[in-house]
Amino acid sequence: MKRRDFIKTSAIGLTAPTAIFGGTKIKTNRNAPIILSTWNHGLPANDAALKSLQNGGNAMDAAEMGARVPEADPKITSVGFGGFPDEQGNVTLDACVMDSTGNAGSVAFVQNIKHPVSVARKVMEDTKHVMLVGEGARQFAVSQGFEEMNLLTDESKAEWEKWKMKRSEMTPHETHDTISVLAQDKNGDLAGACTTSGWAYKMHGRVGDSPIIGAGLFVDNEIGCAAATGLGEEVIKTTGSFLVVELMRQGYDPTTACEEALNRVIKRHNGNPDFQIAYIAIRKDGKIGSACIKWSFEYALAQGGVNKLHKIEGMI
Ligand code: GLY
Repeated sequence: MKRRDFIKTSAIGLTAPTAIFGGTKIKTNRNAPIILSTWNHGLPANDAALKSLQNGGNAMDAAEMGARVPEADPKITSVGFGGFPDEQGNVTLDACVMDSTGNAGSVAFVQNIKHPVSVARKVMEDTKHVMLVGEGARQFAVSQGFEEMNLLTDESKAEWEKWKMKRSEMTPHETHDTISVLAQDKNGDLAGACTTSGWAYKMHGRVGDSPIIGAGLFVDNEIGCAAATGLGEEVIKTTGSFLVVELMRQGYDPTTACEEALNRVIKRHNGNPDFQIAYIAIRKDGKIGSACIKWSFEYALAQGGVNKLHKIEGMI
């Protein structure tokens, strides 16, 4: 096949869903802000995000302010302060942000800093880079005035010690409750934030999807935004959040886009993965969507003055 013909054939294949849903111009949702977050810790995150919008913040401010709430809550063992440590007892954190201009910042494997999401924003706004990791990320945070603290609470330490005694395998679906916050402000602009302590008792040095732009989070201000929670390794292998946004671009509605992205994972695991991944998405016209592989998943949606949890069932 000639290169030109190949491109033509591929383009037809790629754009096929547009023939069904697409071609329709998406009208921007203005003056009706939306905050969409993962899990029930999304509820207080949404409240903080809304407050930020009410105080004149934009979508990026809202997403960051929302994500900081679970980061600071020692009772949430999958994010920030109080997060379960790695197998050696170190709490190592991953986070990223992406704004409406397509700018992005990220930190991975950072230790002793309570608000990695804000460090990620500093990386985006005050450096020429997108991603800082480990000791470099910590040093950068300290240079920017972030306080250092021990993130391992007595409760999380006790759980880790119990795990060490038994070395029991925790199933991944119990251990990946990342907070992802997507926001659309009154101008219709989109932004997102994603932050986690990752897989409990992971190998030292493990980094998941949450700080990887395109995997844990992706924002395209023309089309929409998407974010992930769940087993990061599988989200990375399918560039999950980018895929959801690209599927929306092709004409998939937000929920179908989330389902189709998960189908890629389900197929790779012969139709029966034994782990959880969930996506949330906001399309530029304000339509939201979500899907999860199995069991169930809850997202928190703040829209029109109501902030509420919604439960969805798994696809398999
Ligand atoms: N999705 C979070 C993680 O796998 O680290």
